[in-house]
Amino acid sequence: MKPEIITFTTISLDGGISRPGEKTRLSSSRDFERQHLLRSMVDAVMVGANTVLIDDPLLTVRLPGYSGRQPWRIVIDSRLRTSPEARVYDTSKAPTILVTSNENKGKVSGYEARGVRVVFVNKQGEWLDLDEAVRKLMDEYGIRKILVEGGGVLIGTLLMQGLIDELIVTISPVLLGKNKTPYIRVELDKPIKLLLEKAEIDRVTGEITLHYRPVYTA
Ligand SMILES: NC(=O)c1ccc[n+]([C@@H]2O[C@H](COP(=O)([O-])OP(=O)(O)OC[C@H]3O[C@@H](n4cnc5c(N)ncnc54)[C@H](OP(=O)(O)O)[C@@H]3O)[C@@H](O)[C@H]2O)c1
Repeated sequence: MKPEIITFTTISLDGGISRPGEKTRLSSSRDFERQHLLRSMVDAVMVGANTVLIDDPLLTVRLPGYSGRQPWRIVIDSRLRTSPEARVYDTSKAPTILVTSNENKGKVSGYEARGVRVVFVNKQGEWLDLDEAVRKLMDEYGIRKILVEGGGVLIGTLLMQGLIDELIVTISPVLLGKNKTPYIRVELDKPIKLLLEKAEIDRVTGEITLHYRPVYTA
């Protein structure tokens, strides 16, 4: 058994998720509300190290009047490039788990001092074994539903390992142009067929939200 994994990403019409190295806002306030509503419905929100380095996100649910539980925040950082001072590691706001390589045992006291839990996993080639990571997150922390918010490396490596159950993509009416960070930032070793489950058009903002289920073949 593994947790259910959903991704939520806002992309430009030309397939980008941000301008290089910049905090880029692609979402309208209605898209932001969709994202925060989804956060309120999962056990954990997950991001990759670059997203923490560039955006310094809080990853909490911030909806007007919301006083419910805050989901776990999970950061995938195999080389400990994120600063323990990042906002996501302020555990007074919500609990946080750092997922890193077994090779970093003994090097995580700066994060633990802020109350961050750490899950150590093996590498699978160049990347962390995310299948091992999500199973540990379920067994050790009871995390059964994860919302992955990006970026493009994390979504790509989860797809390569056949772990994503649903891809939610909102197309924002903008073209980001050259040097953008792509939605999928790794070379997939084979094509993955997607079944369209739902499509919604927001005529006020011009955003289109698509829900896909990946079909993995052996
Ligand atoms: N538009 C949107 O909805 C949206 C959402 C989120 C982020 N973003 C943007 O996306 C950009 C960041 O995306 P990105 O593709 O550069 O990076 P990312 O996926 O956020 O982070 C990539 C880094 O995380 C670590 N990582 C992720 N998966 C891993 C795995 N399976 N194994 C080992 N390490 C793994 C690696 O760093 P180490 O090797 O150092 O561990 C990797 O270089 C930012 O500009 C952010 O603003 C946009």
